[in-house]
Amino acid sequence: MASLHLRDVRKTYDGGTEAVRGCSLEIADGEFLVLVGPSGCGKSTLLRMIAGLEEITSGTISIGDRVVNAVPPKDRDIAMVFQNYALYPHKTARANMEFALKLRGVDKIERDRRVAEAARLLGIETLLDRKPGRMSGGQQQRVALGRALVREPAAFLFDEPLSNLDAKLRHQTRSELKELHRRVATTSIYVTHDQEEAMTLGDRIVVMKDGVVQQVGPPLEVYRRPANRFVATFIGAPAMNLLDGTVAQDGRTVELEGGARVALDSPQTPGRGVTVGIRPQHLQLSADDGIATTVRVCEPLGDETDVMLDGPGGTSLTARMRLDAIPAVGDSMPISPRAGSVHLFDAETGLRV
Ligand SMILES: Nc1ncnc2c1ncn2[C@@H]1O[C@H](COP(=O)(O)OP(=O)(O)OP(=O)(O)O)[C@@H](O)[C@H]1O
Ligand SMILES: [Mg+2]
Repeated sequence: MASLHLRDVRKTYDGGTEAVRGCSLEIADGEFLVLVGPSGCGKSTLLRMIAGLEEITSGTISIGDRVVNAVPPKDRDIAMVFQNYALYPHKTARANMEFALKLRGVDKIERDRRVAEAARLLGIETLLDRKPGRMSGGQQQRVALGRALVREPAAFLFDEPLSNLDAKLRHQTRSELKELHRRVATTSIYVTHDQEEAMTLGDRIVVMKDGVVQQVGPPLEVYRRPANRFVATFIGAPAMNLLDGTVAQDGRTVELEGGARVALDSPQTPGRGVTVGIRPQHLQLSADDGIATTVRVCEPLGDETDVMLDGPGGTSLTARMRLDAIPAVGDSMPISPRAGSVHLFDAETGLRV
């Protein structure tokens, strides 16, 4: 096992796309780090640079104490798991799993031991003599995980390994992956564009946008204290509501565009332009002094209901609430944030205030 260190790593593709713009990260030995961000933000590029599959334009990547910039992929002691499994179709699960070990000259007794151990961990003992074509997507992905596992690498790299699975299987495999990591505790970097997957799997998450790291931290810390407007809306579902306004003369409220007011938890400079952030889960029905809205759409989820609301000044808000009765479209609904739940961002920089 090993720690990983990235120092100011950059990637500019031929043609000029700056896919990764100066990324520095420390990944502790045994940590499960998740890279999350929208499509095209540079997640796969970063992962492939760590694996050695993509040349880095500048910066340093170290595995343990060793700088690996010039080390070929096969000598980096890293195992990568891809979205499309990438199994050899004509080989059985066992043959797929032990192939890399054979190449390395690992003897048969040791190969059998490792395959048996991985198969047991993944619950695929009965699949070992089957070829990929006769397995479900979930089973193939398990074999792909097994193939990575038997190598007993210093680190695992996962690039959206669950995204070809249907929702239920994805959820189940996600839990199994977490359990697997708890047992083997191999340093892992996991790429996904799914914020929920990131939140549930990561010891820490790295939120990326346009090749730039936006925030690094434990999932709940990122959720509770998003560093900027982008992270605020990207992490958490439904997305956080953002409302522009100005800090009032008393310094204790924000006057929203459209006239409504929102109380602040701590005093701010009067006149400052801000964006107020409120999670849908933190909006509640309020007395008349709340934000005046009307119901546009209701989506009952069972215990809770997502209510899409038209707010002041043409704004649009989402509230997730426990309601006794589903409101009708066009109903007026004054709402306000729960005490202590308001996030504040600078109007110009978008950074957390
Ligand atoms: N081989 C390549 N040559 C040129 N540009 C590339 C290449 N691979 C990726 N890019 C560009 O680099 C940027 C980052 O791509 P990357 O695949 O790393 O994104 P990603 O975050 O993994 O996205 P996704 O979630 O869609 O997989 C994108 O703008 C992409 O078009
Ligand atoms: Mg990708």
